[in-house]
Amino acid sequence: MTVTNTAAFAQSTSPVPSADKPLGHGPDAVRRPFRWPALLTDNGRGIAYGGDYNPDQWPEDVWDDDVRLMVKAGVNTVALAIFSWDRIQPTEDTWDFDWLDRIIDKLGRAGIAVDLASATAAAPLWLYEKHPEVLPIERNGDVVNAGSRQSWRPTSPVFREYALDLCRRLAEHYKDNPYVTAWHMNNEYGWNNRHDYSDDSLREFRRWCERRYGTIDALNEAWGTAFWSQHVNSFDEVLLPRHMGGDSMVNPGQMLDYERFGSDCLKEFYKAERDAIEAICPGKPFTTNFMVSTDQCTMDYADWSDDVDFVSNDHYFTAGRDHLDELACSDSLVSGFAQRRPWYLMEHSTSAVQWKPLNSRKRHGQLVRDALAHVALGSDAICFFQWRQSRSGAECFHSAMLPHAGEDSAVYREVCELGGMLRTLSDAGVQGSEVRCSRTAILFDADCEWMTRCETLPSMKLNHWHDVRDWYYAFLDAGVRADVVPLRADWSEYDTIVMPTMINLSEFACDRVRGYVRGGGRVVIGYATGLMDETFHTALGGYPGMLRDVAGVRAEEFNILGPVDGDPDAVGLSNGAIARLWANVVTSVADSATVLATYEGADAEEWELDGVPALVRNAYGDGEAYYVGCDLDREALGDFVRGYLAGAGAAGAVAGDDSEDGVDVSDAAGTGASTGVVSGGVVAGDASILHTVREAADTRFDFYLPRGKEDVTLESVPGDVIIAHRCEPNANGGYTLHRNAVLITRTTK
Ligand code: GLA
Ligand code: GLA
Repeated sequence: MTVTNTAAFAQSTSPVPSADKPLGHGPDAVRRPFRWPALLTDNGRGIAYGGDYNPDQWPEDVWDDDVRLMVKAGVNTVALAIFSWDRIQPTEDTWDFDWLDRIIDKLGRAGIAVDLASATAAAPLWLYEKHPEVLPIERNGDVVNAGSRQSWRPTSPVFREYALDLCRRLAEHYKDNPYVTAWHMNNEYGWNNRHDYSDDSLREFRRWCERRYGTIDALNEAWGTAFWSQHVNSFDEVLLPRHMGGDSMVNPGQMLDYERFGSDCLKEFYKAERDAIEAICPGKPFTTNFMVSTDQCTMDYADWSDDVDFVSNDHYFTAGRDHLDELACSDSLVSGFAQRRPWYLMEHSTSAVQWKPLNSRKRHGQLVRDALAHVALGSDAICFFQWRQSRSGAECFHSAMLPHAGEDSAVYREVCELGGMLRTLSDAGVQGSEVRCSRTAILFDADCEWMTRCETLPSMKLNHWHDVRDWYYAFLDAGVRADVVPLRADWSEYDTIVMPTMINLSEFACDRVRGYVRGGGRVVIGYATGLMDETFHTALGGYPGMLRDVAGVRAEEFNILGPVDGDPDAVGLSNGAIARLWANVVTSVADSATVLATYEGADAEEWELDGVPALVRNAYGDGEAYYVGCDLDREALGDFVRGYLAGAGAAGAVAGDDSEDGVDVSDAAGTGASTGVVSGGVVAGDASILHTVREAADTRFDFYLPRGKEDVTLESVPGDVIIAHRCEPNANGGYTLHRNAVLITRTTK
């Protein structure tokens, strides 16, 4: 399998100019300055601790008990009035701030700061009765009914007027309140109104398209409207991708823009709320809670992050073996959105949620472990949904800080224990320290996440975010903690970037990859990466058309593997790995490339893949590219990291955050063994431990968390131990960490 014709690796050029930059999607977008909410402590500092508080669900005689128990637990912050619009404005012409004044006053006098919501997430029923035209429309034309939350169109001028009126009145009323230290816009924008197919949405989509494309010709080109008689004569003819009958397929270019538009118009709504409040109440930090976990990441949060003063996120755990790994992966992306500044965990759960088919509780010690894991990954605020478990309503079986069982309960006791630990960490100076960067970045991009869900791809089982997660796990399995960062981030400080299933990439992004590798960086290109440009046009001449020159391969077809009767659903590789789902039929490789593994064996032969390159390394400029032409399982990805990436390539050994300690974190021989090297007391390359470092000017904090059920022994630990949760000291100064343990040390530099 050789190639002599280097022209085969030249790029096809995209006919549409990159629209990345004008939309603020480049790394140079303007960002609001970082601003963090103060606590009501003497110096305003400390790790925030608390949760959503819904006093309006309870009679007032419960409030004093709430405050007493909050103080006992070390709670210093609550998010208030998130769903309280109907209490604040019971009818169109009546306003009631008295109850809110009373509870804010009680909280503030007890030293509990208030993150006050704009209260617009759930509108009162009178508003829907009077203005049913604010209700969103589903894809098939059904009206979304009132009665839940976020039953409103982001593009409705009527809803906007009511919502902004509420924002202004709240701002007027609380602008001088010393206890309100942050503003929390709406709640999880897009949870229930991410896609709206109303006429308001249509009108705004047409405007959005005109701003993006300028001319109708550019839109026709971008959407490929020559297909199926879809030519658009003017922006007045632009349509939403509404239901078109039966199994009709949507134009993917149009769909991609509709996804971008949806994220943009909710962001515009957020900004309108923020600006309405900020005009009256300047100087306070503003945020809105994102929804980032590896099962969802619905908005372009990298873009949204430019418009919040501090990044905040809601994270709900995944039960089972990957619980901690999943948490770390999600948090790493949030930290990437925050550009590694501290971020705010706005919600997580003390134990079970109530919205999955089966809702596992947390095991003993896991409440504390999860919370401290978020701190380890850069969070400076630990908040829960919610303070007091509801007695009625859709969430009455969702866990809370104060459960149905009351004060005399294991959960509340653990909540108190956690409050004490966060106080210890605050006193030790953790707040404001930053997570040390890894040397490997796995890239995430919202466009790719949206488009791998497109229903007209060679396989409907693609998922960019899940492949990011799988790579993240594989690095952990190899004893290396990678960072997950948005595509538009600055990658210059990383030795290696991994691009999993980044199916659609702009020429602008590809040029950044080229510059990075030419300059000595190493890139790992996944099997379905670089197939299309940012308008979802395939790049011609062979796959992966957008990055063929960097990858040094040319593939002509995709071999999709699946559970089809009589055909093998996996094929083996010559290095012992197994490919599942997807294998690219690579027909040639560049002279500068080395084939590392081919498909091999009876199943490969059955698919006529025997001898076809599967893993390829290509020298490019001063750096190198690894091309992974198939979907490897977690074990094979782990072997890939331990083996190929651990070898000293052009970019040096792959490493996690421990590299600067001079320890060998890798298993360079590629044997697959976890080395667990200890140097200066620091465990590195040990797959049994999640290890992070947070650094301040003169101090570093090391966090050690066992990933599995087994005990892990650290022979020695550097610095002073400040938290030892489920850990036992050994005779020689080391520690044994039990399941769900957290060990935190502080070292003066
Ligand atoms: C049908 C249609 C074609 C094309 C093919 C794709 O046969 O008539 O236009 O869509 O399906 O398989
Ligand atoms: C989301 C919402 C909360 C609550 C929780 C339940 O995060 O923001 O209001 O519904 O889910 O897990």
